[in-house]
Amino acid sequence: MKKLIALIAVLTLSLAAFGAVAESAYTTVEAGKLSISTSPDFPPFEYTDDNDNIVGIEPDIMALICEKIGLEPNWIAMDFDAALVAPQTGKTDIVVSGVTVREDRKTMFDFTNTYVSIHQAILTKEGAGIDETNIGDYLIGVQSGTTGHIYAEDDYGEDHVAAYDKYGMAVAALTNGQVDCILLDDMVAQAYAKRVPGLVVLPTSYEQEDFAFGLAKGHEDLLSAINAALDELIADGTVEDIIVKYQTAE
Ligand code: ARG
Repeated sequence: MKKLIALIAVLTLSLAAFGAVAESAYTTVEAGKLSISTSPDFPPFEYTDDNDNIVGIEPDIMALICEKIGLEPNWIAMDFDAALVAPQTGKTDIVVSGVTVREDRKTMFDFTNTYVSIHQAILTKEGAGIDETNIGDYLIGVQSGTTGHIYAEDDYGEDHVAAYDKYGMAVAALTNGQVDCILLDDMVAQAYAKRVPGLVVLPTSYEQEDFAFGLAKGHEDLLSAINAALDELIADGTVEDIIVKYQTAE
């Protein structure tokens, strides 16, 4: 009997110790969870399926990262503008939304390592006669706060830009003739072109952009844990497999 009690005591103690470690490893907005802001209008990176679940390349990668670091992912959908500022205002721990690494964004959050690169592309109607040489003569649709928005405004002026909260709205504006084209990330342009008949994707000469996740500042431990997990998933080919899976499924 004494032995049994001793055994139970040891078990209880080690369970308690384990629980304490699991709970206190990282300070997050909601204990035990990684709260993630995103704009799920960005296939194949993040979009909603028929059941309104947020799915795509980044949810798959984050699910594996969260498993490795012992946190439960909690996705919170909002417009891209809002998703970018959510970590800074303490609403979420991290923004995962196809975010391009930019110097000016480093004041808002700490970027993780990068895992994929894209270029800006032009999404337009087949036969519209629009390309990079004459795009400045037309009305360009963009999503507010994105790199496409920044480039279009800088290069062609506000009068040539129509900004939308969601890519879905920009694509609707394109199909019904309210804008002539959209400037956006090439993999996403390809995904929309596959979904909407009559749309084509043209390249641009804008610089390569690298995607990373943006973690609220002041969480060094969490940042290195996420980076270590991400690097493992890159090194063993998992990230590449996920990207290929969604590109071919789209
Ligand atoms: N890569 C671009 C940027 O960082 C566009 C990202 C838009 N993301 C989204 N989920 N709608 O500005």
